[in-house]
Amino acid sequence: MHARLRPLPASLRLSFALFLLLPLPAALLLQAAAPAPATGPGPTVDRVGFPVDYQKTFQPLRTFNRAKPRNLITVYANPTAAAVADSGDLPYPHGSVFVMEFAEVPTGPDGQPLFDAQGRFQKGRVTSLHVMRHGEKFGEAYGPLRTGEWEYVEYRPDGSTLTAPKDSFTCAACHLQAGASRDWVYRGRFEAPETMK
Ligand code: HEC
Repeated sequence: MHARLRPLPASLRLSFALFLLLPLPAALLLQAAAPAPATGPGPTVDRVGFPVDYQKTFQPLRTFNRAKPRNLITVYANPTAAAVADSGDLPYPHGSVFVMEFAEVPTGPDGQPLFDAQGRFQKGRVTSLHVMRHGEKFGEAYGPLRTGEWEYVEYRPDGSTLTAPKDSFTCAACHLQAGASRDWVYRGRFEAPETMK
């Protein structure tokens, strides 16, 4: 009699508990699979090229503070890209290059960022250059993420790559959202798209 009233034997309880837990690992696996893929379509060779003299020969288009992560950002265009000042002249001519330069911001003794007279961050060490170049038949390798005839690379100031061509689908994927009407350049000399305001 007693045996019937007793709760489930320990072994059965364990199976039941495991049964309840079963869906959990599956859900965790799905979550682990969700983050952006580490690989994607992209060029195998670098046709962008490190812009050796950009600080001397390119035109600075704008400089702005970014709070998180804290950087002073400067966008430059080479003379070919800088010559496009009318949206009727888009797409950009082959040979156009844009550079987005990221610099650290020096801090004072209180740990706060230092500003210049215009309220911009002071410029510290340059850490990274986002570079995009327009060329004939460029961009094919990005497949569905293709943004016209642009290819992308991220360099360190010493010319080594931070985001190699084969990994630069991440750049293309985001610039795709800038759209064909501005030749996938977010800003250049033009107003920012509505989505950025
Ligand atoms: C999450 C979205 C995103 C990703 C990823 C991204 N960009 Fe951009 N990029 C932007 C936006 C937004 C701007 C405009 C910023 C501004 O002017 O305020 C921009 C600007 C630029 C510019 C200046 C010309 C322009 O479009 O206005 C260059 C050059 C550039 N990006 C290159 C790259 C490269 C190279 C990579 C990959 C290493 C990259 N970007 C990854 C969003 C992105």
